[in-house]
Amino acid sequence: MDSAAGSEQADNNPRLEAFIRQRVREAGGITFAEFMGHCLYHPELGYYTSPRERIGKQGDFFTSSSVHALFGRLIARQLVQMWELLGKGAFTIAEQGAGEGHLCLDILDALAQEAPEFYRCLRYCLVEIGASSRERQRARLGAHLERVHWCKLDELQGMEGCVLSNELVDAMPVHLIEKQEGALREVFVVERDGALSEELREPSCPAIEAHLLRLGTGPVEGNRAEVNLEAADWMRQVAGLLKRGFVVTIDYGYPAEELYAPFRRNGTLMCYHRHTTSEDPYQRFGSQDITAHVDFTGLQMAGAEGGLETLYFGEQYRFLLGLGFLESLMEMQARETDEKRAMALRMTLKNLILPDGGMGSLFKVLVQGKGVGRPRLLCSRNIADIPLPAGGMF
Ligand SMILES: C[S@@+](CC[C@H](N)C(=O)[O-])C[C@H]1O[C@@H](n2cnc3c(N)ncnc32)[C@H](O)[C@@H]1O
Repeated sequence: MDSAAGSEQADNNPRLEAFIRQRVREAGGITFAEFMGHCLYHPELGYYTSPRERIGKQGDFFTSSSVHALFGRLIARQLVQMWELLGKGAFTIAEQGAGEGHLCLDILDALAQEAPEFYRCLRYCLVEIGASSRERQRARLGAHLERVHWCKLDELQGMEGCVLSNELVDAMPVHLIEKQEGALREVFVVERDGALSEELREPSCPAIEAHLLRLGTGPVEGNRAEVNLEAADWMRQVAGLLKRGFVVTIDYGYPAEELYAPFRRNGTLMCYHRHTTSEDPYQRFGSQDITAHVDFTGLQMAGAEGGLETLYFGEQYRFLLGLGFLESLMEMQARETDEKRAMALRMTLKNLILPDGGMGSLFKVLVQGKGVGRPRLLCSRNIADIPLPAGGMF
């Protein structure tokens, strides 16, 4: 792929582009993972580290937590059960990559109202890489600052509670690979005729092939795919930090077999800018999000190495329905007297569970546990047991 850099000057950060080109020249080419890391996390100029409106209508994309507070309120119910399972003592919720802090706010609002005893023994730790995001989180969470702390992940060593993330893992830098003539090749970013371009080379480290061998799958001949080594390292680290409790990971993605399915010829890399998508990462430096779908099999395997057992894995719509999505929607509808507003509420909430074009089935929820046995979690309630309103909901 050749660079389209320069075509969108208004939304490009020339300093970041210059930094990346300099790195490429010095190193004689860098891995795509390094390129993506600079684009998203350069200490001052990266997409997630520079001040910028990223999430919501004025930003580049929506997340479930920015769609409606019900998302966080339902997760709060699951957290209450987890607290009960751990014996109702001191409990830490560690949310990494909290963005604007929507999910944290909705969870804390719900717990303060509906589970005050839990709220009082709760410590909510936010682990956030972006300084401007930390500032906005602090402003949004004003009413709960007694409960909220900001820290680094390794400061959570020995924690008991739940490590929570929504759309963190898809934003981790990935290695891009291709299978060509039976061999694994890696995409390097190079400069050619003054433009950023791609070159296939030997993989930069043996860990890539070892990762695919462990998964027992990978791209077929001619296909491109992503390998997220950072995600596996992150999950191992989280497993090591947690003394007892749960890990809840919400993101879009698939089990490995599906992620590397032969029909996915070009992988899943996608860029987001002002609610439009593009497959070209070599433009809008520092002004577009770059993401890849998450390999949930790799996360489960990495977690298992650190003693995390999978307690639940399923589509977001199942998870939310299990936690009472429909019942809550019916209650909210019943309180709404204006039919137009009731309709708007239904349409908004539909996004969270809609399979096609919504967040319902592409998004998955993985719940792992350590030292907690195999409890039946509220989110795993059978959908057939949910009372449906006569005449349908939507
Ligand atoms: C797509 S946003 C997720 C938004 C949020 N969870 C929500 O529900 O709206 C990704 C977030 O992860 C943060 N992030 C990415 N890598 C991180 C890391 N290694 N440690 C902490 N935060 C990270 C980004 O700064 C950003 O806030």
